[in-house]
Amino acid sequence: MDLFEYQARDVFEKHGVPVLGGIVATTAEEARAAAERLGGGTVVVKAQVKTGGRGKAGGVKLAHSPDEAAERAGEILGMDIKGHTVHRVMIAQGASIAEEYYFSVLLDRAERRYLAMASVEGGVEIEQLAVERPEALAKVAVDPLVGIDAVKAAEIVARAGFAEDVAGQVADVIQKLWAVYAAEDATLVEVNPLVRTEDGTVVALDGKVTLDANAAFRHVDHADLEDAESADPLEAKAKEHDLNYVKLDGSVGIIGNGAGLVMSTLDVVAYAGEAHGGVKPANFLDIGGGASAEVMAAGLDVILGDPQVEAVFVNVFGGITACDAVANGIVKALEILGDTATKPLVVRLDGNNVAEGRAILREADHPLVTLADTMDGGADKAAALAHAAATA
Ligand SMILES: Nc1ncnc2c1ncn2[C@@H]1O[C@H](COP(=O)(O)OP(=O)(O)OP(=O)(O)O)[C@@H](O)[C@H]1O
Ligand SMILES: [Mg+2]
Repeated sequence: MDLFEYQARDVFEKHGVPVLGGIVATTAEEARAAAERLGGGTVVVKAQVKTGGRGKAGGVKLAHSPDEAAERAGEILGMDIKGHTVHRVMIAQGASIAEEYYFSVLLDRAERRYLAMASVEGGVEIEQLAVERPEALAKVAVDPLVGIDAVKAAEIVARAGFAEDVAGQVADVIQKLWAVYAAEDATLVEVNPLVRTEDGTVVALDGKVTLDANAAFRHVDHADLEDAESADPLEAKAKEHDLNYVKLDGSVGIIGNGAGLVMSTLDVVAYAGEAHGGVKPANFLDIGGGASAEVMAAGLDVILGDPQVEAVFVNVFGGITACDAVANGIVKALEILGDTATKPLVVRLDGNNVAEGRAILREADHPLVTLADTMDGGADKAAALAHAAATA
């Protein structure tokens, strides 16, 4: 889960990372009040969206008074930044910046350890710096069992070439950022820019934090950080039913059991779609091992709730839950959904009790259901139906 900057700021503060005051606002009036609470001086109005390059897009603006903060907030709220609508801004205390640095620590899966990166040339274009002048970005491997202690922090600071007068402070901040990373079970903590202010203190002015969802059970408080409001409503509904669902952009709804089978179903449908006007999968949905009628109904309900879906491909391999149970599940699910089910369903069953399963579907003879013998055949049929519906 990615955090908003204002949430990252709060988490930083909790672990002693030096930050400036920041108050979130959802209206121009709230922005004015926030600027007043921060002392009425210079503030920066910052769009809170989970994407980079906010500054360049006009989502980070200076304001010299609470009135001006309200005005800037009015401009930024509602803006679209790379497909993300700005619903909140953070009113941040203005810093007088002498220098901008960069620091991040992240999970390096390929090397099975963590990687710290630091540069004395921080600011907005770190990706460009990494490509054009890689030597200006120090990369230091971090042993997961040791983490970033004083020795490692000193190594990072030396490799990045921080000046002597800030090296000690930066090393201290880096250790605190490591505390955030380790204690919160993050997979990314990035600060761009980390700044030295005119009065010589080192402060984190921006923060990107990604929390590891696999560790959510250890952090009850992380649930509060979730952004229920801007979550996709279908994904939220799927989550309520414990379904593993990811919305995609195409028109062929996909239901399968087992993540591997669903992944390959996406590939097969995308491939088959090339011959049918380029239709693509509409989602990933794994209903897991126990495909009961209720689970099947919940899954179909989620998929059919997506207005982009024109046809659905149900691709199930019977195992412990055999094909006859799955077939009964589909029949009952269609009963439960009744008139709300209007899109054609292509069903391919294989595996345990496949003959019984197919017999059940043939007997039910539901007008929306077409049986397919093979995965490729089912994908082709579903793609054809989706294309036909879209062009009808
Ligand atoms: N509180 C602040 N006071 C003064 N200047 C600031 C403050 N916050 C940000 N800035 C300036 O604005 C620039 C951009 O801010 P920030 O890094 O938060 O956004 P961004 O880099 O555009 O967004 P992203 O990190 O999402 O790509 C900073 O490099 C800094 O120069
Ligand atoms: Mg930034």
